[in-house]
Amino acid sequence: MSERISKVVQDLPPSGIRKFFDLVLGMKDVVSLGVGEPDFVTPWNIREKAIDSLEQGYTSYTSNKGLVEFRKEIAHFLKSRYDLHYDVEQEMLITVGVSEGVDLVMRAILNPGEKVIVVEPSYVSYKPMTVLAGGEAVVIATKAEKGFKLQPEDIEKVCRSHKNVKAILINYPCNPTGTSYTRKELLAISRVVRKYDLIVISDEVYDELSFEFDHTPFPSLPGMKDRTVYLNGLSKGYAMTGSRIGWVCGPKDIVAAMTKIHQYTIMCAPITGQMAGIEALRNSRKSVVEMRKEYIRRRRFIVDSLNEMGLSCHVPQGTFYVFPSVRSTGQDALTFAETLLMKKRVAIVPGTAFGSGLEYHVRMAFASSYDSLKEAVKRMKEYIQTIPSQGNS
Ligand SMILES: Cc1ncc(COP(=O)(O)O)c(C=O)c1O
Repeated sequence: MSERISKVVQDLPPSGIRKFFDLVLGMKDVVSLGVGEPDFVTPWNIREKAIDSLEQGYTSYTSNKGLVEFRKEIAHFLKSRYDLHYDVEQEMLITVGVSEGVDLVMRAILNPGEKVIVVEPSYVSYKPMTVLAGGEAVVIATKAEKGFKLQPEDIEKVCRSHKNVKAILINYPCNPTGTSYTRKELLAISRVVRKYDLIVISDEVYDELSFEFDHTPFPSLPGMKDRTVYLNGLSKGYAMTGSRIGWVCGPKDIVAAMTKIHQYTIMCAPITGQMAGIEALRNSRKSVVEMRKEYIRRRRFIVDSLNEMGLSCHVPQGTFYVFPSVRSTGQDALTFAETLLMKKRVAIVPGTAFGSGLEYHVRMAFASSYDSLKEAVKRMKEYIQTIPSQGNS
């Protein structure tokens, strides 16, 4: 690559998802279970509010922190739903999706060489954002046998064997595994976090898609609010990926530092998205619940179908992803995903995009219509039957 490009960027690996989806471009008749984005359009009342706001001439910048009316709505939402209390002036910032929140927090807290624990399998941006901020990612690889759950003793091990571990980034329900944590499990994690004085960056963008038990936000645990940077947004639960709205709630000093970077780089999140966000939090519970119900229906279908095919698949506790193993086919995930795409036009993502040691896992999103899922399952069955090591005709 050209010397004009910084060494840090040259050394960043391209996103494993992007690389794979370049293959899909230009193909016809593809059933895609690849992209992590709801198939639902944003509920109508929210779109209508966005249109209204444009008609009324709301087309300007907002305050750097975001519209105060929106921040108040978020504060009200967090208080009534989770009994979480945040000051809208000092402890909150509206961002361009959770993506911006991840970038800002890394840049706000990390000095060169300081380390962040990243729990794998993980969302693709965590390690690159850490490195771009001058930090180092230390990986904890969770195990399929343990439902891909982070174990408190894993954190303990890392903190004992590494110097300069400043923070841990957790995400639950988790992309790509769907794993989530009960309050009891989170409490056990919080004890180690306190022992090693870590900052917790908690990406809870899938909280509305928790299927098995009530979601517990990390900052709601005893003693955790002062050390947690809580990230959330509208993309997933409200089907608002295109609005690009997220928020950060956290300790004053960290939020102020993040706001400083945000005002230079972004200025403010888009006003139309913020206006839509007010409506989303105020009047869209019914739509959110209906979408969740539909994901639960699809989850049952896809998990049962995969297990019937002999691809072992644990039941995701949240999100709209399954993360089965394809080992029983005799193929690794990359071969399986590429050949499935070429021969049957079904797009899924090899697990290697989400960390190392995931050579036999694939991620499939059930954020596609029930009919698309049925078609994908039919084609996968046909494909698996053609794999010689299966002993099938
Ligand atoms: C775990 C996780 N965090 C953050 C994001 C980005 O969300 P946003 O659209 O709010 O930037 C995604 C998107 O797939 C995600 O899966």
